[in-house]
Amino acid sequence: MSDPAEYAIDHVSRDAGEQIFVRTGIGDPYRTGVPYPLFLVLLQAYPDLFGADPQAMARRFGFIARDPDPASDDPDVRAGLPVGMHLTTDPLTGVPFVVNACALCHAERLRWPGGEQVIVGLGSKHVRIHAYDAAFVAAARRDDFTIDRLGALAAEAAAARDVPWPAVSRDDLVVGTVAALRDRARRRAALVARTADGPPGRVAPIEAFAVALGEATGTDVAFADDVGWAKVPDVIGFASRVTLSWDGIGEGPMDVLVVEADFAAGVRPAWFWDHPLQGASLGAYLRQPAPRPRFPRPVDAALAARGRALFEDHCERCHGRYGDDGRVVDYDETVVELAVVGTDPARARAATPSFVAAANDPALTRGLTRVAPTGGYVPPVLTNVWTRAPYGHAGQWPSLAVIATPPDQRPTEVVLRLDADYDLDAVGVATRAPGGALGDGEYLATAGPGLGVGGHPFLADLGADAAAVIAYLETL
Ligand code: HEC
Ligand code: HEC
Repeated sequence: MSDPAEYAIDHVSRDAGEQIFVRTGIGDPYRTGVPYPLFLVLLQAYPDLFGADPQAMARRFGFIARDPDPASDDPDVRAGLPVGMHLTTDPLTGVPFVVNACALCHAERLRWPGGEQVIVGLGSKHVRIHAYDAAFVAAARRDDFTIDRLGALAAEAAAARDVPWPAVSRDDLVVGTVAALRDRARRRAALVARTADGPPGRVAPIEAFAVALGEATGTDVAFADDVGWAKVPDVIGFASRVTLSWDGIGEGPMDVLVVEADFAAGVRPAWFWDHPLQGASLGAYLRQPAPRPRFPRPVDAALAARGRALFEDHCERCHGRYGDDGRVVDYDETVVELAVVGTDPARARAATPSFVAAANDPALTRGLTRVAPTGGYVPPVLTNVWTRAPYGHAGQWPSLAVIATPPDQRPTEVVLRLDADYDLDAVGVATRAPGGALGDGEYLATAGPGLGVGGHPFLADLGADAAAVIAYLETL
């Protein structure tokens, strides 16, 4: 196992947690990474699949692009890798590997009239992680995806960029990577087919876990009928949560759950046991989130005060109580049954009996964590909720205005304009009516299995008073 020194943590700290979250990720580069020369070759040899350079790749898959800066002392920035992609140096060969950090999904560049900010921790509205996965699968299936061709191109790419690519290791790395990507293409074919054309900012987490669990336990882990789409959530509520999922399916110590998520990305269980302080450091970081941008327009204080009173009467029992600064004062995580919340059931039903059996295999969990379907969804912590659209567990509601619309009158087809300024009137992603060609950053959101727009009538039930509650939510 390759174990770069930067993953060694000698004592728990927020800084170490921040490094993992924003920059280095959990590690295990031989499983989760690609040797940098081969990464460059994939972009160069398959521009139709990946985009020809890291910037084009970032646009295609909804990552936050960074321009290469030759003067930077950060190799990731020198290489122009997007936020959340990192070069870690394999101590065994000296070769840099491209690995992913949490911020690849859990960061977003938010633009509003008059401002913009990259908010680390906010769920990405753009990321298309399954499409990125599919590009690797498609490349591995091409006839010209051969050891000879990729090996020759990698040697050229490494020489052109002065990347270490030692003669004693390069053949092994090419053979190993080609074999691993071909094998991965076979194992992930069903997942890729199932998630093709999925919506941006959404992931099929249970399905991704199912593949990893099947492999780790050697059992056949079945998918449910419909894809259990989940929006990448904001991690701002971490300190108040007791599970890490929209449906509360996985329980255990939070600092264990927070690293286990990377199991689905390929990290081996042994890595977690060898790096026991990663989770504790991530927990220390996530428990004290950095300050967030306030709602960028004046909020009518009298209206918000009335909204606060309404919130206490109609929302607080599920969503908790908040201080004047928007932080949680009192929140007890609960699961609201599907029959009560009425939102799309697919994510809550995504874990099949074979999934539950594999996920509770004591050889994997050592009894630390437990997976049990809950049949409902957790009311999210609402701190800084204004930035978070599209809302709901599947990102099914583009704005607070849509949540305030009676469920049967909500639009079932709408174009999300993800690159446009945030809509501060509706409080959400800018949208337009369907029709005409889709422009850059536009996505046609269609209600369907896993992406239904119904349920959660609570705000709409307040009728005209919903506006006051929305004004209050703008202050959180
Ligand atoms: C591929 C995108 C992706 C990556 C990479 C990723 N996450 Fe997540 N994360 C998700 C999704 C999707 C969920 C929601 C899962 C669900 O409920 O079904 C989630 C949920 C969470 C939550 C729960 C938030 C809440 O309060 O509801 C936390 C905390 C979290 N992730 C932390 C991390 C950390 C730490 C890492 C890096 C080690 C990471 N994530 C990497 C996509 C990602
Ligand atoms: C019975 C419990 C319950 C009540 C009452 C309730 N909610 Fe919710 N709320 C939920 C649940 C559960 C979800 C997640 C729904 C989903 O997507 O499946 C949610 C989601 C939301 C979201 C989306 C959050 C996000 O992170 O995307 C907002 C905003 C919201 N509720 C606001 C309100 C407001 C305002 C009220 C009061 C008018 C309210 N809720 C009343 C349970 C409740």
